[in-house]
Amino acid sequence: MKDRKRIFSGIKPTGDLTLGSYIGAIKNWVDLQNDFMCLYCIVDMHSITIRNDPEVLHRRIREQLAQYIAAGLDYKKNIVYIQSHVHQHAELSWILGCYSMMGELNRMTQFKDMQKKHPQNLNAGIYTYPVLMAADILLFDTDVVPVGEDQKQHVELARNIAQRFNGIYGNIFTMPEPFIPKVGARVRSLTDPTSKMSKSDDDTQGSIFIMDSPDVIVKKFKRAKTDSDSLIKFDPENKPGVSNLMDIYSAAAGKSYDEIESEFVGKGYGDFKTRVAEAVIEKLRPIREKSLELLKDEETLVSIYRDGAERASEMAEKTLVKVTDAIGFLRK
Ligand code: TYM
Repeated sequence: MKDRKRIFSGIKPTGDLTLGSYIGAIKNWVDLQNDFMCLYCIVDMHSITIRNDPEVLHRRIREQLAQYIAAGLDYKKNIVYIQSHVHQHAELSWILGCYSMMGELNRMTQFKDMQKKHPQNLNAGIYTYPVLMAADILLFDTDVVPVGEDQKQHVELARNIAQRFNGIYGNIFTMPEPFIPKVGARVRSLTDPTSKMSKSDDDTQGSIFIMDSPDVIVKKFKRAKTDSDSLIKFDPENKPGVSNLMDIYSAAAGKSYDEIESEFVGKGYGDFKTRVAEAVIEKLRPIREKSLELLKDEETLVSIYRDGAERASEMAEKTLVKVTDAIGFLRK
């Protein structure tokens, strides 16, 4: 029996964490962590669908862990861990792959995008990645999956797989619901507000990284794309750049769009960008400083991820046994 409803979410270490990762994911994870039993994962197995320099990947995994903790994730009350330390992810993923249809994987928009972006490395992992994500979620009887808008389709696939499996074997999996934040579900690139701010974008000027210094943040916001009138108004269709900055400001300063519009009546984009930059710097400063401190404390980092993996693995094993029993495998 569960005493609290469960949350599972993760970020893949394919790039340094951005303001998009923070506003779209981590900030909400912190807000939700007192009402749910939460598992927050560094999904390193997801990151190898693209080629990484091993040293860089290693650094990013450690940094991501430090940033999770520095942002306020409570690793004692909840569970923070690294996916590859819990072998049940890979095992359930294989099983669920046999209950996933190629037609539904073909429809994943992220797969279609990757087909265009990386035609020279279209490996099978890119294709089956949403199945591993379904395994991540279903391993823990997850009720709620907080994600940005781009991941909603993958959570829906997890539901379809669970429904299919339950249809055959009875009530094995809990049905997960996606939870998409009202503000900041899709933070956009500062240089191209038609695309999302991404960890792995080649144009680093479009992304604010959690570890960026205040000087760099100010410079990036100064260069952010706006438009030719100088009206600060929330209108994503006609004013995508300004609306994106308003979204960021709203998430960083806790203000509504109306409050922001009133604050900048009669003021220009220069003032507006300076205020957005200041709010973001204040939000990220403690996370950056605490992360740098934690990264010097190897013993604490290791004890956090080992303890997390142990507890997650214990929970995951229970689901895996239920699943393998249902299928008809023989217990060891
Ligand atoms: P990933 O690593 O691309 O992104 C991690 C989370 O951050 C959100 N996000 C954003 N939200 C708003 N604006 C942005 N610009 C932005 N960029 C990223 C994403 O929506 C996501 O919530 N497949 C997942 C990782 C994953 C996962 C899972 C998530 C693996 N297993 C199980 C939830 C549950 C991914 O690639 O996220």
